[in-house]
Amino acid sequence: RRENKRRAERVDGAEPRNKLPIPASSLPTDPALYSGPFPFYRRPSELGCFSLDAQRQYHGDAQALRYYSPPPTNDQGPNFDLRDGYPDRYQPRDEEVQERLDHLLRWLLDHRGKLEGGPGWLAGAIVTWRGHLTKLLTTPYEQQEGWQLAASRFQGTLYLSEVETPAARAQRLARPPLLRELMYMGYKFEQYMCADKPGSSPDPSGEVNTNVAFCSVLRSRLGSHRLLFSGEVDCTDPRAASTQPPACYVELKTSKEMHRPGHWRSFYRHKLLKWWAQSFLLGVPNVVAGFRNPEGFVCSLKTFPTMEMFEYVRVRVQGCSPFAQNTVVQDDPRLVHLFSWEPGSPVTVSKHRDAPYAFLPMWYVEAVTR
Ligand code: A3P
Ligand code: MG
Ligand code: MG
Repeated sequence: RRENKRRAERVDGAEPRNKLPIPASSLPTDPALYSGPFPFYRRPSELGCFSLDAQRQYHGDAQALRYYSPPPTNDQGPNFDLRDGYPDRYQPRDEEVQERLDHLLRWLLDHRGKLEGGPGWLAGAIVTWRGHLTKLLTTPYEQQEGWQLAASRFQGTLYLSEVETPAARAQRLARPPLLRELMYMGYKFEQYMCADKPGSSPDPSGEVNTNVAFCSVLRSRLGSHRLLFSGEVDCTDPRAASTQPPACYVELKTSKEMHRPGHWRSFYRHKLLKWWAQSFLLGVPNVVAGFRNPEGFVCSLKTFPTMEMFEYVRVRVQGCSPFAQNTVVQDDPRLVHLFSWEPGSPVTVSKHRDAPYAFLPMWYVEAVTR
């Protein structure tokens, strides 16, 4: 069993390449620079979890976790109307509220005394959201959306928190009605596939409230970087071979029905890369996709094992870029290094103090300093 475990912990036998001296103001992201072997990624282990309720309030437990409950396979297949309930049974989360790392920091405050490896472990770690790591990992392949990451070092730990770019904000505020409905449909699919209790059936008659979230907190290591991060998990499979999280978790996705080889090629190249990165980082073994037809009905499902996606996406990722660790040297919770990236350009860095970029909340800094 130990041998299996060791094997599963490695993506390949590669150790990270030597660090390159990189100037602080401009950092390269050309895929060719990262075409070496994928860096070592330790199999993530779950440290704990938390839930956000219908009012987006934090709870230090698994109350928001849902249970994977696919339709019986002996039927003709699913017929999920993803538009049902829109917009009258939809409570979307208020996207104007920038939560930054707050929920994760709340969890960390409650658990930092009990972390394996002691306070020394945390002092050498990066603390962030899984979604931010996904963006970093897929940067060399991203052709549309840039990102901004705020970084602060505090008591040795490097905290990374995403900042919404002006372009992303403008796009969000001008989001066309069709795109809003498409967003709803992704969550509606989850409602058709998940039950509130193990062994019970999904109930698609209720509301879709996107404030509700179950988040897993994990530790891992990418190359030489220790990671403590959290990611939202769609559901757990009560019938999974391993009951131990994150191996029992399932990621749900929707995508357009595909009818031509060209559709599949484009799907592999663009969507699957992101699906893979998101699930791989958290250690989710399977992604279950629902394919929707032009009328918004899901009539077919397909399971993609995460480790098999790797073959299709041929990743050359930016995993070993040590930019933030090397640049953010000064230990100061009020100081922010803002890393900005736009497709086709190198990463740039600027320094800021306090508002609006400082993101470590007073309640966290004071509690940790005390
Ligand atoms: P699908 O992507 O399955 O269609 P996640 O898949 O990460 O669990 O997210 C659930 C749903 O949230 C997505 O469903 C999509 O509807 C919406 N969503 C997530 N990230 C989004 C983004 N960057 N832009 C628009 N919608 C997003
Ligand atoms: Mg999700
Ligand atoms: Mg999902």
